[in-house]
Amino acid sequence: MEQKPNPFIPYMATIRSVADLTSDVKLFNVELDDSAARDDFDYQAGQFAFISAYGIGEAPFCLTSAAHRKAGIEFAIRAVGTVTYALHELEEGAKVGIRGPFGNRFPMDDYKGKNIIIIGGGIGMAPLHPVINTIVDHRDDYGDLLIINGARSPQDLVFTDEFDVWGKTPNSKVELTVDQGDDNWKGRVALIPDVVVDLNPSPKNAIAIICGPPIMIHFTLIKLKDLGFANDQIVTTLEGKMKCGLGKCGRCNVGENYICVDGPVFTFEQISQFIEQF
Ligand code: FES
Repeated sequence: MEQKPNPFIPYMATIRSVADLTSDVKLFNVELDDSAARDDFDYQAGQFAFISAYGIGEAPFCLTSAAHRKAGIEFAIRAVGTVTYALHELEEGAKVGIRGPFGNRFPMDDYKGKNIIIIGGGIGMAPLHPVINTIVDHRDDYGDLLIINGARSPQDLVFTDEFDVWGKTPNSKVELTVDQGDDNWKGRVALIPDVVVDLNPSPKNAIAIICGPPIMIHFTLIKLKDLGFANDQIVTTLEGKMKCGLGKCGRCNVGENYICVDGPVFTFEQISQFIEQF
């Protein structure tokens, strides 16, 4: 029987491209060096992987790409700590380690036929990006798509070059909002929870998927519940202090669940009693 690779040992990978999404967020496209490993790296929207910056350390990141597009493995990474600053220094051709994919996934099959409301704040759009592109590429499988994307400023909005395609997809709408506009900004200047209230999406046959800063999730959740969304119609993806990614180190528990194996994707039905801010 073929030996499974050791999940603690990273695959060697090469950065194929690096693009600036904002002043502090970069999009990395990487390719595993070994062709068998590439075939083995079968992932879905919602999953994550660890990236190692050699000599510095590793950290977990959600997979930003949609696997079915077969355009490489992508991560949107904000420079906020030692590993992420080291990764931001790397250029095309540099080597990194990749361990994964880990975690559960957005149950995209269960969402078929439903109206989907995607609500992302800042870099919180990263795990939602493959969900959106899965719906866009299989448009007839899903109901209406409403994307609410917010950021501190227009310069902090991510995936801006895709808004046009998303917005022109049948039965789809993109609503952008910023906390603070500038002279060129013609869109909304409002907090995401207020935009949700203004747009008033129906909970009927709908799923809302939220990702962003905890404060934004907290207030958005309140508004969604006011609109009639039940806890099992609201989904998020959690970050945790993850070390192993395999349910072994015990660092990422939420109640009896481990974020790394039972999550990171949860409904609020599953986690609301364990997480104070929700
Ligand atoms: S990261 Fe070790 S148990 Fe989840």
